[in-house]
Amino acid sequence: MAAPYQAHPSAIIDTPCTIGAGTKIWHFCHICADAVLGENCNLGQNVMIASGVRLGRNVKIQNNVSVYAGTIVEDDVFLGPSCVLTNVSNPRAAINRRSLYEPTLIRRGATVGANATIVCGVTLGRHCLIGAGAVVTRDVPDYGLVTGVPGRRRGWVSRHGHPLRSARDGVFTCPESRLRYRETAPGVLRCLDLDEDAPLPAALAVGTQPYRSFHDGLPHP
Ligand SMILES: CC(C)(COP(=O)(O)OP(=O)(O)OC[C@H]1O[C@@H](n2cnc3c(N)ncnc32)[C@H](O)[C@@H]1OP(=O)(O)O)[C@@H](O)C(=O)NCCC(=O)NCCS
Repeated sequence: MAAPYQAHPSAIIDTPCTIGAGTKIWHFCHICADAVLGENCNLGQNVMIASGVRLGRNVKIQNNVSVYAGTIVEDDVFLGPSCVLTNVSNPRAAINRRSLYEPTLIRRGATVGANATIVCGVTLGRHCLIGAGAVVTRDVPDYGLVTGVPGRRRGWVSRHGHPLRSARDGVFTCPESRLRYRETAPGVLRCLDLDEDAPLPAALAVGTQPYRSFHDGLPHP
């Protein structure tokens, strides 16, 4: 029977492992034994998934990313090109810390930008966005927009990846989806129209306009 997933002949897939239907694995990837990949994932060129790692459904991983042991990746996560995940805070070549990996939890819908580095032991909240090149050393709340070195939260970002810059009566509206958001406590943002764990309705899952067309001319915070 044909595999329910697609893998380029140059990919190395160790056994046993579990790969969901519809998942695509491109050139020079390495899936280690005991990895679990959900349905409809896409792994670009030169992606390594370590033994025991679990990827949720619809996870998109761009070229040159290694997902090390100790990382948990939930549904709809986007890992940008050449981003770096880690699993030991104080690595030493002469000391074996294989039983001491520090977990990194990347929650549903989170995005890690190109070349960003995630220092291990943190949680990236649901639908947060880590800007290109950031170095994340602390937990990021749901919908947090983090940039810089060290990474700092610059504001909030919608599910559709738009910075939420101005609120009317305390309510932010995403310029693309029109979904509404409100801070329910200091440092806590919630969507008023869609539960954080609910999948996007199909009608809201296709982009219609380029990013800048929503933001040009708007003041920065
Ligand atoms: C953070 C991001 C979403 C843009 O947010 P934004 O608020 O629209 O940013 P703007 O372009 O309006 O810039 C606002 C300020 O933030 C700075 N900035 C933007 N992105 C930054 C980043 N990644 N790191 C540091 N500073 C950044 C800008 O230089 C600007 O600074 P200034 O006001 O001093 O000129 C975007 O820059 C980014 O990093 N996206 C990730 C892209 C990516 O990695 N894609 C991977 C797959 S293709």
